Amino acid sequence: MTASRPAARSRIAHVADLHLGSDDPDDERAFLRAMFAACARAKVDHVVVAGDLTEYGGASSIHRFEAAADDAGFGPDRRTVVKGNHDLRARRLETEVFSAPASTRMLGPVRLTALDSTRRGGPTSALYAHAMGRVGPSQLERLRDVLSTKHGRHGEVIALHHHVNKTGAGTVVELVGRLLRMWGELEDRDALLDACVQGDVTVALTGHDHTPHVFRVKRRGHEIRCFIAGATRDLERFRVLDFADGALQGWKWQRL
Ligand SMILES: [Fe+2]
Ligand SMILES: [Fe+2]
Repeated sequence: MTASRPAARSRIAHVADLHLGSDDPDDERAFLRAMFAACARAKVDHVVVAGDLTEYGGASSIHRFEAAADDAGFGPDRRTVVKGNHDLRARRLETEVFSAPASTRMLGPVRLTALDSTRRGGPTSALYAHAMGRVGPSQLERLRDVLSTKHGRHGEVIALHHHVNKTGAGTVVELVGRLLRMWGELEDRDALLDACVQGDVTVALTGHDHTPHVFRVKRRGHEIRCFIAGATRDLERFRVLDFADGALQGWKWQRL
């Protein structure tokens, strides 16, 4: 939290799908430096990485990420990283960089709950790199518990890798796209959305789909603003969201 902004406000950077480890380490370092410098320029309080931090779960890329974040002042208290399916490609993921399943933290006027939507295995695991997502019953139960306790007037935000929308299937092209992409969808999205509606979650920060997108999910008179970051490295920009008095005030793009 910056000293200049009162705790009733919070500015969150939403990045995702960095896929570190897919090219030259020097290029990777330069990208990370630029990304965190842009976060500092934008006076961001907290950075959310919505999964696929790495391409293969490589330890050296994770260390480069941590070093760049720490150097720019975005230490563990000022960053939240959720796991993506590509991060699962490491045989053993021995790192503290990822948030524990269904862990929470207060970010000024909002409470952020980080969910692990990755799922090892499944029928398409070899071809699609564990692309299917699932939050699972124990995290859902923990999420419901968390959301049932309110400490004052704050907003509820969740972060997870898998997007919560279904790919459109109105046209033939959309249908083909749907058939190809359904392997990467969240299996228990309905249960998750029900918990979110019941617990008053108003914002979901996700990744996985490399195309940025913002949409609203409406259920039983409740609305959830859903953000797909897109692949930050390719886009060379990311969204910055402003929260005040427990609510999302707006967002803008920030260039690297
Ligand atoms: Fe990805
Ligand atoms: Fe992904």
